[in-house]
Amino acid sequence: MTEQKATNVTLHEHRVSSDDRCKLAGHKGAVLWFTGLSGCGKSTVANEVDYKLHELGKRTYVLDGDNIRLGLNKNLTFSAEDRAENIRRIGEVARLFADAGVITPTAFISPYRADRAAVRELLPEGQFIEIHVNASLETCEARDPKGLYKKARAGEIKDFTGIDAPYEAPENAELVLDSDNKGVDELANEVIAYLESSGIV
Ligand code: ADX
Repeated sequence: MTEQKATNVTLHEHRVSSDDRCKLAGHKGAVLWFTGLSGCGKSTVANEVDYKLHELGKRTYVLDGDNIRLGLNKNLTFSAEDRAENIRRIGEVARLFADAGVITPTAFISPYRADRAAVRELLPEGQFIEIHVNASLETCEARDPKGLYKKARAGEIKDFTGIDAPYEAPENAELVLDSDNKGVDELANEVIAYLESSGIV
């Protein structure tokens, strides 16, 4: 738990509620929390879901690991402690987006169960959808789109997830995507089908 350090601050209720904003959007807000190893396809699938929902006239916005680490979270490393802070901040940002009635796909390795569980706690029931993009380490390492596994194996990157830092797979994800055997389009359709069946869109 992050300590509340600021004192003399109180929560304001706003005149326009989250429900009002969702009514205007025509759908609920939600966080689609994609998690998985580097190279598993999180960003690619999150982007495809974003594109398909946008085409359907839904309000969406992607929060992506590498992009956020170049801005808001540029001061964080890949230590377990900094990864926790990375995920905590993203969770808070994603919560604001969902509260604004936006469907928010996020693509972060988010390797620790406790960190993901803490984000789930921030959101109303049913609005945190954990999606495990499941690809084996062998698949991710063979893809190695950024050449990072090669560097990690050579000892040039420390604390690399799957090599010398852990990945704790979800135990109760709302969705598990088989990224070893299926393509982006099929996986994105599985996510959209879930959103339809669960009443988000
Ligand atoms: S997380 O673990 O804190 O959730 P995040 O998703 O933000 O990670 O960033 C992961 C991205 O940072 C990877 O896709 C990769 O491009 C890059 N990266 C650089 N160093 C590491 C590392 N040690 N472990 C994992 N990813 C790394």
